[in-house]
Formats: sequence, C-alpha cells, structure tokens
Amino acid sequence: MADLTPLLAFRWSPHSFDPIAEVTSAEVTTLLEAARWAPSVDNRQPWRFAVGHREEETFKHILVNLPASEQRWAGRASVLLLAAEHTTDNPFATYDLGQAVAHLTVQATALGLHVRQVTEFDRRGLITDLDLPSDVRPYVVTAIGQLGDPFSLPADLLRHETSLRHRQPLGELVMSCANSPS
Ligand SMILES: Cc1cc2nc3c(=O)[nH]c(=O)nc-3n(C[C@H](O)[C@H](O)[C@H](O)COP(=O)(O)O)c2cc1C
Repeated sequence: MADLTPLLAFRWSPHSFDPIAEVTSAEVTTLLEAARWAPSVDNRQPWRFAVGHREEETFKHILVNLPASEQRWAGRASVLLLAAEHTTDNPFATYDLGQAVAHLTVQATALGLHVRQVTEFDRRGLITDLDLPSDVRPYVVTAIGQLGDPFSLPADLLRHETSLRHRQPLGELVMSCANSPS
C-alpha cells in the first residue's frame, strides 16, 4: 500500500463511530459535491441521496430499516446517508452510483471522517418511511462519522475491528491474456 495516495491508504470501514461527534452540514455538502463530480456513463448522474444527521427523523428512518445486527454500530454514526439509483432505463446506474459513493468515501477521508457502507436493509420499509419517489431505488446506506472507541463494540465486532484487513494479491486479479508478453 506504500505507493498509494494517503487518501486511499488511510481509508477503511470501521464499525466504531464516536457517538458524540458531529458531522457538520458543510462537511456533508462537501461529501455530496465529491459524489456529484463523479464520472458517469453519458454524464447521466443516476444518483440520488437522502441525508440524516443523528437525532433527525431521516436518520431514525434509515436506522430502523437496517438489520438489528447493523443497528448495533450504525446508530453511533453522525450521519446516515442513503445512496439510491435513479432508475430511468440505465443499465449502468449501479456502476455509476458505486463510483459516486467511492468519491464520497475518499472525500470523507480527506475530512478526517470514516464511512461504512451497508447494502442489507429493508428497501420497501425505507421507500415508505422516507416517502421516496417511484423512480428511485435505494441501493446502499453509508454510515459516516469520526472514529470511536472500538472497545465499546460488542465482542464479535471488536474482533472484526482489530483483525488485519486482507486483499487478494494483484497476481490473482490481473489476468494473463493471450497477447501478454511472457
Ligand atoms: C457495497 C458495500 C456493501 C457493504 N455492506 C456491508 C454490510 O452490510 N455490513 C457491514 O458491516 N459492512 C458492509 N460493507 C463494508 C465491507 O465489509 C468493507 O468495505 C470490506 O470488508 C473491506 O473493508 P475496508 O472498507 O475496511 O477496506 C459493505 C461495503 C460495500 C462497498
């Protein structure tokens, strides 16, 4: 990881968020700007967002639609942000939304914040609770905040939090193609 830009090298997804820390509206705007300036197929920008700061109704609506196992840690985040696809006959919407959220995570690192994403949640419940338009498909919830005390986590999450992160070696990811030099 030595040669990576620090913004990428220092990004990781914690479960432990500081339950007191606040993420300001200005910081959230910066995160959304980072997402907004992501590239997309034909510049269609098929992303929509719903933002809930802790104590706000939107935060509570997002939180209650997460599985109980995720609520254990996500409730401590400063912001829960729903990222959704704008579904207008765009086969690349999911790809583009992923890029937008990736931009957001890098910008979060630049602000000294952390992000953990969750795709497992009650989509129908969230559509109802947030009264989302019919052409919007909830895709991922991002929990955003400052790093908290990992020892405040339940034992299984603490174990996860303090384990080494792994990636497949490049040798398994880069395919050797017929015309590659041997
Ligand atoms: C699309 C997506 C969905 C994820 N869903 C969950 C989830 O449901 N619960 C969870 O605890 N982490 C979730 N994660 C976090 C991943 O487990 C985490 O990014 C991965 O283990 C790599 O760790 P790192 O982000 O610290 O490098 C998700 C991440 C992504 C990108």
